[in-house]
Amino acid sequence: GKSGYEHFMLKEIHEQPRALRQCLRGRVDELGGRIEFEELSRLSPERLHLVAAGTSYHAALYGASLFRVAGIPADAYHAHEYALSPPPGEALVVGVSQSGETADTLAATRAARGAGAETLAVTNTVGSTLARECDHVCYIRSGPEIGVAATKTFAGQQTTLALLAEWLAADTTDRETIAALRSLPSDVQAVLDNSRSEAVAESYLGSEAYFFIGRGLAYPVSLEGALKLKEISYEHAEGFPAGGLKHGPLALVTEQTPVLATVLGDGEAARKTVNNIKEVQARGAPVVVVTDGRSEADRYADHVLRIPDSEERTAAVLANVQLQLFAYHTAAALGRPIDKPRNLAKSVTVE
Ligand code: M6R
Repeated sequence: GKSGYEHFMLKEIHEQPRALRQCLRGRVDELGGRIEFEELSRLSPERLHLVAAGTSYHAALYGASLFRVAGIPADAYHAHEYALSPPPGEALVVGVSQSGETADTLAATRAARGAGAETLAVTNTVGSTLARECDHVCYIRSGPEIGVAATKTFAGQQTTLALLAEWLAADTTDRETIAALRSLPSDVQAVLDNSRSEAVAESYLGSEAYFFIGRGLAYPVSLEGALKLKEISYEHAEGFPAGGLKHGPLALVTEQTPVLATVLGDGEAARKTVNNIKEVQARGAPVVVVTDGRSEADRYADHVLRIPDSEERTAAVLANVQLQLFAYHTAAALGRPIDKPRNLAKSVTVE
């Protein structure tokens, strides 16, 4: 059942600390400063192609960035496009799928196998078709997800891919990273306990459209925030790379279009995103900033959704939790059938 929550989605959002504890269990060796994957034999791919759809594609984009940072060439592809024209060159093809039954993702990994590639499944579902068909499999261990909107499984995919990037890149992992990973469940709990997302969501009901912007690791988070909002609230929501605004989307920005900007850390990506925030504000758009407070972003925000201070890769998990709650509360205020949005199915088994 829903354990007292009004919707499975809200229950699953609140299950994230437990799901992430489960995901991390046995995989972070604090003393040895090492990441471990019991179920995987040693892999040393020269490059990675991550294939996925929907929310899982956003996790794949996030994962690909982390692999690249770790020194392993990696790209994320929409599974439905990859299957049609697989890029040349040898790669370990990683199918990322909650259900392990998504037709698009299966088509992509099958095409890859047909071309002689090795495949790895990153999935939530033991015994799923993807798990059975790939050469290697690792589980995100999120537990069953009932809501059509993927929530805890996105966090599980992000975390599993972050662990995989560390595991593949080096024999040892530095203390800060280990600490950030280990405190992820309690940091998510802190977001859940203190989020002001309900009041913020309610203050923007009736907006013409909602735009989500971010750079670097905040970019896939922005895409995911927009997908979640459109899927369950039926409001028009789009995610853009913050740097892309001036190349077109800025024409859509008005007083009627709140901009939700995710700003992580205080590096170059954060500084440039602050400039983009100023630009949308100059056009009269209300700005909601999701941030750890390390940059100047708060100063330009109408509302701030705060996340605990963390490393950028874990902060991206925390920021997404705020956006999940924002989407949920918007949809709840509009009285939408949150767990079963119109026209959508939990598992998409036809391409
Ligand atoms: O089971 P999968 O992760 O392969 O599913 C992929 C997408 O269909 C799925 O993420 C979809 O976008 C969700 N409804 C998003 O909330």
